[in-house]
Amino acid sequence: MTRVPIATLLVAITFTALSVAVAGDEFEQEPIRYSESEPSNCISELQKQLLQGTATLEFDDRFGYLPNLLETLRVPVSSQVLVYSKTSLQLSRISPRTPRAIYFNDDVYIGYCQSGDVLEISAVDPALGTVFYTLDQQSVEKPQFVRQTDNCLLCHSSSRTEGVPGHLARSLLVDSRGVPIYSAGSRTVDQTTPIAERWGGWYVTGTHGDQRHMGNLIGRDSRARSMPENPDGLNVVDLTDRFDVSSYPSPHSDLVALMVLEHQLLVHNRITKANYATRQALHYQQVLNKELGEPPGNRLESVTRRIQSAGEDLLAAMLFSGEASLAGPLRGTSGFANDFAAVGQRDSAGRSLRDFDLTRRIFRHPCSYLVESAAFRALPPEMRDYLGTRLGVILAGEDTSGKFDHLSANDRAAIREILMSLEPEVLPTLSQR
Ligand code: HEC
Repeated sequence: MTRVPIATLLVAITFTALSVAVAGDEFEQEPIRYSESEPSNCISELQKQLLQGTATLEFDDRFGYLPNLLETLRVPVSSQVLVYSKTSLQLSRISPRTPRAIYFNDDVYIGYCQSGDVLEISAVDPALGTVFYTLDQQSVEKPQFVRQTDNCLLCHSSSRTEGVPGHLARSLLVDSRGVPIYSAGSRTVDQTTPIAERWGGWYVTGTHGDQRHMGNLIGRDSRARSMPENPDGLNVVDLTDRFDVSSYPSPHSDLVALMVLEHQLLVHNRITKANYATRQALHYQQVLNKELGEPPGNRLESVTRRIQSAGEDLLAAMLFSGEASLAGPLRGTSGFANDFAAVGQRDSAGRSLRDFDLTRRIFRHPCSYLVESAAFRALPPEMRDYLGTRLGVILAGEDTSGKFDHLSANDRAAIREILMSLEPEVLPTLSQR
């Protein structure tokens, strides 16, 4: 099935020979059956339309299907972020002179390499979590997205992705060829990672005052044992003297886009985990009750605990528990912040979960906008009931776990009002409170 050249893959495998165990494949069994189940997401939809002839994809001489695919899926070009570490699939194509570009919106992430064989795509699938595809970068009459499983899960399903097929970002020191210098350390990045440890191996365009980070840095010592100073990498707004920016649809690798990406991928992974854990637990309950001759709805203690545990992880990510503090103001260069905030639903007071703060934290109202996404709505009712009830407690200031103490009374009131302005069936137990 796969069109990914074997040679590319073999090199990729060598580079992943790290200490990360590939997670067990519980998600390949009932009730998820990840690889066997028919996906339903923005890519599978587009594929149908391409086959029926109700949609087309134009091929561009320079960037192949990329520009038209971004436009069709409404992924803003301003979301472009550039990574130059050889840490992903088409690593022979990636270096500081030829970075890999990533674009995203709430529903899909797209990876592009210069002269790449394929576009790499991870789509948010409400039932299956993250589903991976490649699209050959060759002009054909009917372009075909090819679903990929093992080729991508090799790196996209591990402890780095919450043990489910998911998204990831890393930060590490790389040399002038883009080869990681692991002796200097490496880490998986999300919204809780201190800014000073982020963006090793990534270009970063934007201003951020005195805030330090590892972006735009090239390691000169292949035996470095720690991250070197980064005087030339800070407050960079123009990348033209670092590589040929005209080889990309945009010359930016926007600071705010990076921050949003690192928030979003964590929440997406935890939504997937919450979805899987609930369905797996309920499936187990059904099987066990049948075997024991109990009524099917007989609730097992272990099921309650599993829903609780995945639900708490999701709440922590959604409400920015442990978010890295910023010494802002932070500002990007591509206009991403405006594009991102413009599509938000607003409540009667004009507030949206997509409004930025960017001085001490990323968002003004620290509750993820992904609560409005199809993936969140598709969580099983048992999980949404749990989340709604807990949100009610947390937003009333009655939680005693200590995980949500960063929310002020004003934050909690604003978040509650914005959430209540959403359709009540998304979180029925919150609106009942
Ligand atoms: C060798 C490991 C590896 C393999 C194999 C791999 N990826 Fe990735 N991928 C990464 C890493 C690491 C990142 C984070 C950005 C970076 O370092 O380039 C990433 C990021 C991505 C992103 C952007 C955000 C995200 O995490 O979803 C997409 C899209 C993506 N990969 C698609 C794919 C697809 C499709 C495949 C299979 C055809 C694949 N990848 C195979 C390592 C890999």
